[in-house]
Amino acid sequence: MRTLYFSLVVLLLLSACGENSTESGVIKIKFSHVVAESTPKGIGAKRFKELVEQRLAGKVIVEVYPNSQLYDDDKVMEALLLGDVQIAAPSLAKFGKYTKKLQLFDLPFIFNDIEAVDRFQRGPVGKKLLASMEDSGYLGLAYWHNGMKQFSANKPLHLPEDAKGVKFRIQQSDVLEEQFKAIGAIPEKLAFAEVYNALQTGVVDGAENPWSNIYSKKFHEVQKYIIESNHGVLDYLLVTNNSFWDSLPKDIRAELDKIIDEVTLEVNKLSLDLAMGDRQKIIDFGDETQRTELIILTKEELVKWREIMQPIWGKFEKEIGKDVIEAALAANNS
Ligand code: LMR
Repeated sequence: MRTLYFSLVVLLLLSACGENSTESGVIKIKFSHVVAESTPKGIGAKRFKELVEQRLAGKVIVEVYPNSQLYDDDKVMEALLLGDVQIAAPSLAKFGKYTKKLQLFDLPFIFNDIEAVDRFQRGPVGKKLLASMEDSGYLGLAYWHNGMKQFSANKPLHLPEDAKGVKFRIQQSDVLEEQFKAIGAIPEKLAFAEVYNALQTGVVDGAENPWSNIYSKKFHEVQKYIIESNHGVLDYLLVTNNSFWDSLPKDIRAELDKIIDEVTLEVNKLSLDLAMGDRQKIIDFGDETQRTELIILTKEELVKWREIMQPIWGKFEKEIGKDVIEAALAANNS
């Protein structure tokens, strides 16, 4: 254990000393993520590269690796600590090992819509959560939206009891595990890169994803029904290694911070339009034999889903913090 700790400290120091610099002294930032380039995160990563290489030309280069080309979201967190990549943007559901606070974002029906999510993230409590993993060596740089999640399955789901016994793929999140257990479904934690195959081969029968992930990964081609539930959010934390960020020359770090602020605004502005565009493309896809059926839940049906899922908030209240949950709820009313 001591040896492991020692090696980790050495590796951290090495990465802090600029092991990622190229021979010419140019700083290289590797940005690894798991989604397609056409999604909000994919667009944001490319835009970050473009602006950095424009404004910090000759000083910083950025290499973007989309589609789990380098790492899945579990491995990327280790890679960040080891200095193998410098920036990642896992979904907020994937930080449970490092902080329990971010579990907030997985609570079903906590936010009414993406505008409420945005208000919370820009408010004081949301901003404070960016630093909730400093003890583990990570620094949150920004929140990027993808959007609200929709259920999909091979059988029509109108009421929670319709999902009984259905196997759903979930992200690495204890909250999401409880969410599906609450409706008598069977949750299965799987990496994002495995989802299409798992749906196609029947390893799982359903999933929950935002529109841009469904469309860009063709999940609608292997799911008979998509249920427009907007029951939760899938957003990202742009994250780096604390020591790496601290080791950057001050002027470069300040410019990177500025660029991140600009890109964050752009990504968060375009995400809703992109989601609505992808939703429409799914509706228009193929002919009647290929097309997935969109189920729009009525208000009464949605109330039933909410009633059965909301009690799990209590199970996580202590870990997340009552004040954090209250701030999130308050963001619905602003
Ligand atoms: C998932 O695993 O479903 C998402 O976290 C993928 C992503 O990055 O949007």
